[in-house]
Amino acid sequence: MLMTDRYAVAGNPVAHSRSPEIHALFAAQTGEGLVYERLLCPLDGFEATVRAFAAAGGRGCNITVPFKFEAHALARRLSPRARLAGACNVLRFDGGADSGDWLGDNSDGVGLARDIEHNAGRPLRDQRLLLLGAGGAAAGVLASLIERGPAEIVLANRSLDKAQALVQSHAGFAAEHGVKLRASPLDGTGEGFDMLINGTSASLAGAGVPVPAAALKPGALALDMMYGPAARPFLDWAAAQGFEGRDGLGMLVEQAAEAFFIWRGVMPESAPVLATLRQRLEAEART
Ligand code: ATR
Repeated sequence: MLMTDRYAVAGNPVAHSRSPEIHALFAAQTGEGLVYERLLCPLDGFEATVRAFAAAGGRGCNITVPFKFEAHALARRLSPRARLAGACNVLRFDGGADSGDWLGDNSDGVGLARDIEHNAGRPLRDQRLLLLGAGGAAAGVLASLIERGPAEIVLANRSLDKAQALVQSHAGFAAEHGVKLRASPLDGTGEGFDMLINGTSASLAGAGVPVPAAALKPGALALDMMYGPAARPFLDWAAAQGFEGRDGLGMLVEQAAEAFFIWRGVMPESAPVLATLRQRLEAEART
């Protein structure tokens, strides 16, 4: 019997996840034999659902809201970037159903950095970055941004204490890389930033961009980790201010490519998949 390796995205909700189609495109492109499913986990049943999936032959999964912290607690081995983030979006079931050897990783930050550097063509080195948010999304990307060697990262959040905690947990890593890192309230970030990265869920709440445009240099890159209709108000704001607006679709595809590599040891080509996904999203927006 032909066995096909199984992967999934585990979350709640997962119905709208684009990960199954991204991984199907990667599998077709690379010739890797795998199937990729959606795994809806009850809010109090993440661990049980993932264990059952591994026992049924699952080889790994992506983790999305709200289980990234639980996945971090579940993995017995953690990559350095996942340990720093305190959150995992990738599990690899090494050793099968017995979680003793499971690897937890986080591909969000490397996905974001690749999207900014390769797809948007903006090197991060020596840049001044303004990162908004201190929840799972911002925590997941901070270490990878530091690794790219920007001059400075200001982490601004509505609740200052959460930004301070994240800065504290990354302070040693930032110092090792010679990156200035500080926490700030949203209304006191300072000015002259080369890039704004929005990792808050403000757009989902229908709130505007939570920092003044004056914080950014003219022509700055303004990226929201959201994509689809949720990113639209942010992109409209960026265009009106003369910034280069970017949504989170490139990050989504790049983090998926990294997850594919973690599982299969094969790096898919992201550009054609990003182009296909962009076309599909635009077609959906027209209907
Ligand atoms: P995620 O896992 O997507 O990061 P989260 O952990 O709930 O989700 O974090 C949401 C982030 O968006 C937080 O940084 C939150 O700020 P607080 O820490 O002060 O709650 C931020 N956020 C949500 N709504 C916001 C709004 N209307 N204005 C500014 N920040 C907002």
